[in-house]
Amino acid sequence: MDEIRITGGVPLYGTVQVQGSKNAALPMMAASLLHRGVSVLRGCPRIADVFCMEEILQALGAVTWWNGHDLYLDCTEADGTEISGSYTGRMRSSVILLGVLLGRNGHGRLGYPGGCVIGRRPIDLHLYALRELGADLLEGPFFISAECGNLHGGTIVFPGKSVGAAEQAILAAVLAHGETVIENCACEPEILWLCRFLRCMGADIRGEGTERVIIRGVEILEGGDFQVPPDRIVAGTYLCACAATRGKIVLENAPEGELEAFLEVYRKIGGQYKVKSGKLIADGSGVRFPVPYLETAVYPGFPTDLQSPLMTVLATIPGKSHIREMIFEDRFKIAEELNRMGAAVAVCGRDAWIDGGRHLLGAEVCARELRGGAALMLAALAASGETAVRGYSYVCRGYEHICEDLAALGGRLKKDTGNYFYGKNTDQ
Ligand code: UD1
Repeated sequence: MDEIRITGGVPLYGTVQVQGSKNAALPMMAASLLHRGVSVLRGCPRIADVFCMEEILQALGAVTWWNGHDLYLDCTEADGTEISGSYTGRMRSSVILLGVLLGRNGHGRLGYPGGCVIGRRPIDLHLYALRELGADLLEGPFFISAECGNLHGGTIVFPGKSVGAAEQAILAAVLAHGETVIENCACEPEILWLCRFLRCMGADIRGEGTERVIIRGVEILEGGDFQVPPDRIVAGTYLCACAATRGKIVLENAPEGELEAFLEVYRKIGGQYKVKSGKLIADGSGVRFPVPYLETAVYPGFPTDLQSPLMTVLATIPGKSHIREMIFEDRFKIAEELNRMGAAVAVCGRDAWIDGGRHLLGAEVCARELRGGAALMLAALAASGETAVRGYSYVCRGYEHICEDLAALGGRLKKDTGNYFYGKNTDQ
């Protein structure tokens, strides 16, 4: 079940809907613990990481249920205070629950976040933020234990921008006594959405979406009822699929305002797009220009999560491209796999040089992480012949129906379980 076979060579053509955002939904789920009652996340993606966070909340005592894509979280009795390493090892972003446990219970214990698949992923900024708000932290061999009488407001000056640490600080500050000022706060849209959700729960937050966020703690939060925004990374991935196959696609609810840096590159490589009646209409048939230099950056820069999908596109464009990965130092794992398909990508540290335009041929390749896995699926769509992409379960962590969507656009994909092409049969 962990392999997808893709027969490439067909330009993608058609219309798809963009799923709800993983990185927005996860912190909102964590935030729901701050209310002793029911919160609802509408349009929540049904993906492995969301299910993992749901399991963690259940283990803490929450009752959860789904109605279609609406996720109900009843945290009335979610008074558990310990999250074991068997969960935190599965999903790194569970670390943001530490501040939530403190806000709700005054103490908490959390296993260490696992997996170093895209580089070193320290949590020092998370712990710094919690300490500034009055938490007493003990870093044991297997657990981090946190205690606080009551969290109090404070000034948090992040030395570097971190999405997760910003979310941690915000989640801890909303119920703390007094005012918290967060300086050099990351500005990713998912942080803005988290703040909007918390405001709908009654939190007092100003400056969200900027580098200076000010939070005045409140006594109690109400239940939230909120629409999860569309996933900008999934939208970008599908636009890369369109570019890599020189297709033409329509995205029904793409958050183009959150994709500006990506769309600028899309235009530079020869892609075209327009937004009409809420739809993003993309034409990748003219994609032909390499990218002499691009570096990933914090928002509003080019997102690291779209670096691998873009690398696949650049591998199809004649000429030399150069990418520098500034966020996660080990995020070029797909280079070797792309080369197995005939690409010529040379990696040295944070730099990848792509000598593009070689003929991509079907091969057996292996995904080792989420976005890289999606990027390999795109390479398979662009290649001639059949490619087996192993490690598909990584892709399922963040893409709800990537196979169905790509098949709806004309891609030829089948599972390893039989001769089943997505979109053409109804296997499951
Ligand atoms: C989030 C996203 C992920 C995205 C990343 C960067 C979620 C669930 N995941 O991850 O998809 O790729 O933002 O946009 O939302 N750092 C520290 N100390 C810390 C925390 C981070 O040094 O305590 C460093 C990291 O090593 C990295 C950089 O900060 O170099 C950015 O990481 P961060 O923004 O925290 O990423 P995540 O929140 O883990």
